[in-house]
Amino acid sequence: MGEGMISTKHLLGIKDLTRDDIKLIFSTARKFKDVINRPIKKVPSLRDVTIANLFFENSTRTKLSFELAEKRLSADVINFSSSNSSVKKGETLLDTVNNILSMKVDMIVIRHPAPGTADFLSKHIDAQIINAGDGTHEHPTQALLDAFSMEEALGADLRNKKICIFGDILHSRVALSNIFCLQKLGAKVRVCGPPTLIPKHLTALGVETSYSVKDSLAWCDVANVLRIQLERQDIKYIPSLREYSRYYGISKELLDSIDGHKIIMHPGPINRGIELDSDVADSEHAIILQQVENGVAIRMAVLFLLASQRGVKAEA
Ligand code: CP
Repeated sequence: MGEGMISTKHLLGIKDLTRDDIKLIFSTARKFKDVINRPIKKVPSLRDVTIANLFFENSTRTKLSFELAEKRLSADVINFSSSNSSVKKGETLLDTVNNILSMKVDMIVIRHPAPGTADFLSKHIDAQIINAGDGTHEHPTQALLDAFSMEEALGADLRNKKICIFGDILHSRVALSNIFCLQKLGAKVRVCGPPTLIPKHLTALGVETSYSVKDSLAWCDVANVLRIQLERQDIKYIPSLREYSRYYGISKELLDSIDGHKIIMHPGPINRGIELDSDVADSEHAIILQQVENGVAIRMAVLFLLASQRGVKAEA
């Protein structure tokens, strides 16, 4: 393993990666996917590397996937959750992180509700930082596992493939990271949702906008459906969930009315019956659990390549 070097010290966002970086992450992830499907799922690549997973916001998939990826690579792992920490007693983010780093930690994986947190930390500490989701800004490993899963499902790279991101684009870090990643890979990207949940600046990024779910579903090869993020909505952006589901949700009836096979994705957690009906989420169109499986291999690749880039011990 290790026929290339990634160009960044940290993974703060997809914006900072080159197309070659993304392709290198994918080729490395394919090898790690073989590893985790073997009876012995572990390699010694990151032994003697210590990684702290700092989660200041809830997570199921990302937290467990990073932890498993780190353990499959034989790293030493410590987990921190803000809800039962001294953050509750008023300790600052930087004090918290510096205290953790003084225990000889090499890499930090951080999820935080404030956009820009990973970038802020990278300017104040020496350890390598991986952004596991910063507010409404970026979620780079989600975008990488999404694009990797799309290539796998389509059996081809994403050049000129039509990808539509549906739903609550305004509050979604997955949407922005997906847009950057898919465009770097040559895909045509569209967003579709209610006008109040699509930021106006997106057209400046070269993204098409549509308010018709039926037209967009007919247009795309892959539909990446996002969760309505009610916890980030301090004002009402939609009249009611019932109307959202009726006009912007993806139902089996709608999917069956469209010609051609569509690949349906969702980063999770799903609001079943709101953005996606259960009989679509559980259908042969959906690759939602394949996304989760690929997340471990993608995160192993990111951790391995960043550790190699810095010259930390990383042997395949
Ligand atoms: N997709 C995603 O980030 O899920 P979690 O919030 O469960 O980590």
